Amino acid sequence: MRNFIILLSCFCIGAQLSTVAQQSQQARDSIAKLSREDHQLMMEKLGIEELRPGPSGNPSAPNAANSDESKATPYKDLPNPLIFDNGAKVNSKKDWEKRKKELKEHFDSEVYGRMPKHIPGVTWEIVEEKDSLFGEVHARYKKLIGHVDNSSYPEIQVNIEMRMATPIESKGPVPLIMQFSWIWPASMQRPKPEGPTWQEQLLSEGWGFAMLIPTSFQADNGAGLREGIIGLVNKGQARKLDDWGTLKAWGWGASRALDYFETDPLVNAKKVGIEGLSRYGKAALVAMVDEPRFAIGFFASSGAGGTKIFRRVYGEQVENLASSGEYHWFTPNFIKYAGPLTPLDLPIDAHEMLALCAPRPVFISSGDPNVEGHWIDAVGMFKTAVAASPVYELLGKKGLDTDQYPGTNVGLLNGDLVYRQHDGGHTEGPNWTYFIEFARKYLND
Ligand code: GCU
Repeated sequence: MRNFIILLSCFCIGAQLSTVAQQSQQARDSIAKLSREDHQLMMEKLGIEELRPGPSGNPSAPNAANSDESKATPYKDLPNPLIFDNGAKVNSKKDWEKRKKELKEHFDSEVYGRMPKHIPGVTWEIVEEKDSLFGEVHARYKKLIGHVDNSSYPEIQVNIEMRMATPIESKGPVPLIMQFSWIWPASMQRPKPEGPTWQEQLLSEGWGFAMLIPTSFQADNGAGLREGIIGLVNKGQARKLDDWGTLKAWGWGASRALDYFETDPLVNAKKVGIEGLSRYGKAALVAMVDEPRFAIGFFASSGAGGTKIFRRVYGEQVENLASSGEYHWFTPNFIKYAGPLTPLDLPIDAHEMLALCAPRPVFISSGDPNVEGHWIDAVGMFKTAVAASPVYELLGKKGLDTDQYPGTNVGLLNGDLVYRQHDGGHTEGPNWTYFIEFARKYLND
């Protein structure tokens, strides 16, 4: 009898689990279908019938993405950030202010989309506040919700979720680093790394941390583009061809968090940094370019669409980014570079986006390609930093002083634009210590 009950309960749990799995598979299928439909609609609006397929991220697939450096560079030169569109040279800081506008316009119209002129306001509410222990540091922890005014279109509700903590011991307002964070369900929690977490490291430094949840206000798929903040602004309609993509919308949320920090007496809003990994590394780059108030950036393994040269034929390609699984990160116009145009037709490249962060300090992080894989293209991210360096120099700052790829665990950390490839995989984890050391000279003065 006992065995029967155990068997029965195993069966029931198994059945429950498979229902959950089925439901989430169904939800995933329906998101993929709606995304494909919206993607198709954008292609029709662009007059595109067919796109070139991207290579596979699976290194043993027959159409695996290239990982042979000798085939990576189908171009002679990258576009020069210090030459105006009309061919004139950018010689001074004043020239750069004008050139910035040209570059920004290209990125807005062709890659990330335009920030809408009118975006509803946000009211922040602290929904939970308590003293908490993070490792050995006592901190003031807060959970906040940013309520977006939806009176223009009440059918769509948008709320921004954020958590943050600042050290209790601090004497005045503290610098803070905000991360675009994933929220992992309890069943999928990542194992705690050895040693202090990044939050504990920041708090021990006397700084605060914040975790902004991008998907709370804009879904990470094409199916969600008629909802979230993009959908609210468009009153539930499809995007126009130069409308903002999800990366820019996530960046908008980070700016609204910064608005909140300006009202929080525990935070020094002039010393707030933005960090993200992978797709959130791309979002951190976009956020920093759009928001001059961010004091420092930490872009980890951001790869294609982030700090990797679009033109490089190595790892992930524009064709992957423009597909129905990822096009939502960008403006619909970007799709055309996967057919009929090619990445070589882009009027700009990623180093010019990175240069738009100058003169503010930026840390580019990568994993070891032997561990992380080649999809992210560590060399491509390094080359982006090299090619953005002349802009830092023009503005009186220090870019990378070598174009020799350093490989693993050799940080190029002396300038204001720095690069370090750690020996781990697809994580920023091991680079937090180095980032904090780098950031000290800007945040602790
Ligand atoms: C995919 C995608 C990348 C992205 C990554 C991530 O691999 O192709 O562009 O950076 O997911 O966000 O984890």
